[in-house]
Amino acid sequence: MNTRSNSTSHDAMQAWEDFIEEQVYPAPHEKAAEDYRNYDNPARETVREFYRQNHGHQTLDFVQEKRNEFLGLNRRRMSVFEALDFLNTLVDDSDPDIELDQLQHLLQTSESIRADGHEDWFVLTGLVHDLGKVLCLYGEPQWAVVGDTFPVGCRFDEGIIYHEFFKENTDAIRPEYNSRLGIYEEHCGLKNVLMSWGHDEYLYHVMRPYLPEPALYMIRYHSFYAWHREGAYDWLCDDHDREMLTHVKRFNPYDLYSKCPQPPDWQKLRPYYTDLIQKYLPAELSF
Ligand SMILES: [Fe+2]
Ligand SMILES: [Fe+2]
Repeated sequence: MNTRSNSTSHDAMQAWEDFIEEQVYPAPHEKAAEDYRNYDNPARETVREFYRQNHGHQTLDFVQEKRNEFLGLNRRRMSVFEALDFLNTLVDDSDPDIELDQLQHLLQTSESIRADGHEDWFVLTGLVHDLGKVLCLYGEPQWAVVGDTFPVGCRFDEGIIYHEFFKENTDAIRPEYNSRLGIYEEHCGLKNVLMSWGHDEYLYHVMRPYLPEPALYMIRYHSFYAWHREGAYDWLCDDHDREMLTHVKRFNPYDLYSKCPQPPDWQKLRPYYTDLIQKYLPAELSF
């Protein structure tokens, strides 16, 4: 496979995740490493360029196109283990340190959830929540796989990071999309709202038949920072969304802050996860 382009994807992906964790939403006891709006910092160039692309391209038409392209789920049938392996081929295998990144992030998330004694489906959610990143392996650019997600078809809220880049989004000047509600009705429920395209929405559709509702919300909205961290878009939510928001918020710290000094040993943990996967998921999933 083309490790060079995949490695580039991976770099931008990692840069986005580090940026969210270190600059925008640092752990409660930590200060932001620096003001992320400090445009003079050259280290932020990758991240700014990433957001420029993401915010510029995620139009309602683009989202519809990607949904038609991917939500038929007819690309591959994979077990969770195969998907984890597949995801790990994302990185340049010349760099052994990076090689385990994706699997390690998932394991560290799920193991931290388990260590806190949470429900088993919550642990499983930690293990699978980023499997939608296999989109990168279908050749999708990183800005269409990761990054904050937000509703399309209505005004882009100012709580979205690097909001200024929406000026390059053609939807921003379409009057029918450019009000607080846009094409939606007040409190219509997020189930009726189209989100920007990425790994969250994609994996939600893969997992929809199998996992409990709170797990599906955690998967589908884990990158919807404007909602779960900034409190925006309540005008599109119904009571069910508000109830589920508690679960999305419960998940977020494990996603962001679960880097353990001692990386979990996948071989040792495999039997536990084999049983857990079997409890909820079929032997193969449609991606
Ligand atoms: Fe994610
Ligand atoms: Fe994650």
